[in-house]
Amino acid sequence: MPGEKIQLTEADITTLQADAIVNAANNSLLGGGGVDGAIHRAAGPELLTQCRTLGCCPTGEARITKGYRLPAAWVIHTVGPVWHGGAQGEPEMLARCYQSCFALAREYGLRTIAFPAISTGVYGYPKAEAARIAVHEARRVMAENKTLAAILFVCFNRDTRLAYEKALAEKP
Ligand code: APR
Repeated sequence: MPGEKIQLTEADITTLQADAIVNAANNSLLGGGGVDGAIHRAAGPELLTQCRTLGCCPTGEARITKGYRLPAAWVIHTVGPVWHGGAQGEPEMLARCYQSCFALAREYGLRTIAFPAISTGVYGYPKAEAARIAVHEARRVMAENKTLAAILFVCFNRDTRLAYEKALAEKP
């Protein structure tokens, strides 16, 4: 059942051993607060050094770097949309973030990938809708990408976990 391969946990994503953890970055890829700050702190300065070579990352796209001092081998940096009420293409752009990350996971033959709740912090995306988009894209890629063994949604607080639990409980 594909559902078993999509898992949910409440944790600090920087502690996870997944092949790749996803960073909710900004267009500069030069670090920030939230999960971006946590990942850069845990990975060490080499991460920023590599990010500086990547240039800007347009919203909805993703870039991959090594994980350096993180337990994860890779970090996939993606830039989510800022929430402006939902009528400026935010849902499509958030879906594109997940699709871009999954495209890199396939290119690099990754078996496990862990996501934070992209755009639901500083960028203000409503958790319930963001979780629904995340789960929908995960279910879609699980049907296509047989290399992917597990997709892990990593919640950093109770509200986020409840939103993902609800989204996972909804029938595909
Ligand atoms: N592990 C897992 N999840 C985390 C962690 C962590 N260590 N720290 C924060 N989070 C969660 C937040 O609670 C939120 O649910 O990550 C989710 C995304 O929140 P943000 O990190 O604020 O990311 P986002 O809303 O996408 O805003 C991106 O914030 O940090 C800046 O540089 C970043 O400009 C960019 C913007």
